[in-house]
Amino acid sequence: MYQKILVPLDGSERAEKALTHTIELARKLGSKVTLIHVVPSLPPYVNSAVDRLGHAQQSILDELVSHGQELLDQYATSVTDKGIEVDTCSVTGQPADEILEKAKREGYDLIVMGSRGLGEIKGYIMGSVSNRVSRHAPCPVLIIR
Ligand SMILES: Nc1ncnc2c1ncn2[C@@H]1O[C@H](COP(=O)(O)OP(=O)(O)OP(=O)(O)O)[C@@H](O)[C@H]1O
Ligand SMILES: [Mg+2]
Repeated sequence: MYQKILVPLDGSERAEKALTHTIELARKLGSKVTLIHVVPSLPPYVNSAVDRLGHAQQSILDELVSHGQELLDQYATSVTDKGIEVDTCSVTGQPADEILEKAKREGYDLIVMGSRGLGEIKGYIMGSVSNRVSRHAPCPVLIIR
């Protein structure tokens, strides 16, 4: 049970806390862990408007995806240090959709994520990404608050 755990990370403290819980779980259960970071897509009109914008968009996204990869590499080190098998994935798209799609495609049996992330809006227990993932996930979702 819970042999493949997917952990979505956005750089927030809450997501880091989810990773700490994952490490404990994975150690006890002998699970493999995958860390995913999604760079949110820019609005579609940027792509179709002018060529120049399309190029600028692509280079910004490329830059953000590699920044995300560096972030994940740092987190991954803290996981391997504990003797847990880990891999990483930094992509662009709609965060909840990308997380759900990967969980379905690759048959994860647990998702561990923060209740909130980097969003500024106060007063909600859950952010839009944790909300959507927990509603549509193909597997159990552990929400850390
Ligand atoms: N871009 C992302 N890539 C990977 N994981 C993410 C991303 N955004 C959010 N998450 C995951 O979802 C959790 C909840 O974040 P969420 O974005 O739902 O809340 P929020 O940022 O407070 O609110 P909102 O984004 O709706 O303004 C995070 O702790 C993290 O685990
Ligand atoms: Mg957010």
